[in-house]
Amino acid sequence: MHCRPGFEGEAAAEMQELSAAKGIAGYAVTREGTALVRFVCPEEGEAATLMRKLSFHKLVFVRQWALGSWLDVSAEDRITPIITACAQGPLASCLWLETADTNDGKAMAALTKKLSKPLESALLKTRFIRPTKTDAPRLHLCFESGQRIFVGWSWANNSAPWPMGIPRLKVPREAPSRSTLKLEEAWHHFIPRDEWDSRLSPGMQAVDLGAAPGGWTWQMVNRHMKVIAVDNGPMDRRLMDSGQVEHIEADGYMFKPKVPVQWMVCDIVDKPARSSALLARWIARGWCREAIINFKLPMKRRYYEVQQCIDHVQSALDEAGIRATIACKQLYSDREEVTCHVRVLQAGSYKVQSAV
Ligand SMILES: C[S@@+](CC[C@H](N)C(=O)[O-])C[C@H]1O[C@@H](n2cnc3c(N)ncnc32)[C@H](O)[C@@H]1O
Repeated sequence: MHCRPGFEGEAAAEMQELSAAKGIAGYAVTREGTALVRFVCPEEGEAATLMRKLSFHKLVFVRQWALGSWLDVSAEDRITPIITACAQGPLASCLWLETADTNDGKAMAALTKKLSKPLESALLKTRFIRPTKTDAPRLHLCFESGQRIFVGWSWANNSAPWPMGIPRLKVPREAPSRSTLKLEEAWHHFIPRDEWDSRLSPGMQAVDLGAAPGGWTWQMVNRHMKVIAVDNGPMDRRLMDSGQVEHIEADGYMFKPKVPVQWMVCDIVDKPARSSALLARWIARGWCREAIINFKLPMKRRYYEVQQCIDHVQSALDEAGIRATIACKQLYSDREEVTCHVRVLQAGSYKVQSAV
């Protein structure tokens, strides 16, 4: 499994808990700062069963995963043992060359680049990769070092759609801040691409709490949505000139929309308990149908804190009789935080109050 460096313990803890809940024995092997976690299921076939039974989208700290094993190779010939290892697994639709998301991993880039062409042609020739078999899993070759490689497979319907779980997104030139990528990445993660047109559509009304200077607002304006940007700080001038943004200088925690909106997004840096209470209030009171918010994590008990936040939001929604999906993910753009997404599936009975 790939994770953010420093969060190996959290990725291990969630796998441990989820595998136990599925009744599958396994243990995690971690080394702090490596950005990789092994989860070992000693019983034959149990790792494959676990991966089938768990929904990748439920994992918070795991960016990408694959089923396979580690291989020791010599610098003289890496390709032959890889081909031999591939013969033990399923046919694949494509090859993904990976490293850990660390400085050591980045130092491997020259080697993986050099090996990319010869590996691909050897795998095509031996027919372990068949690009026409689009429903086949992808083959991951993750280089921990020049001598140690993970050979594994992932299935497109239950894994991240990018090598190492890292989307290649570029900061748009016109966006007022780099944090613009956080919202874009969250959309990629939480909203299937074929639903963007219906769930992020022109004319939709959104509220951005803690909006300044406007990176997240920019993403929504770029999709022709109308945005109420709440922040005491100044918004980007050009963004305001779009005519699609109303800037309200107020406290985001006190703000109530005059009418319910489709989206609420919030990038205010605060205690997770405050952020989850804000999220619960917006959804439970019917003020928005979808929301994206960051939960800043404390130094310790980070996995526990995320579970607390999710439980808090879930209880508030249960009380309000609202059926919704709640998911959290530590995105590539997230540092000491996770991003939470809530989508209302069935509204409750709470009477929407107008703004005071
Ligand atoms: C991380 S920045 C937001 C960056 C923004 N999402 C972007 O992409 O440009 C956090 C913002 O939250 C604002 N903020 C902090 N506390 C707030 C509060 N109680 N109400 C409204 N805004 C708040 C700050 O003024 C700051 O502009």
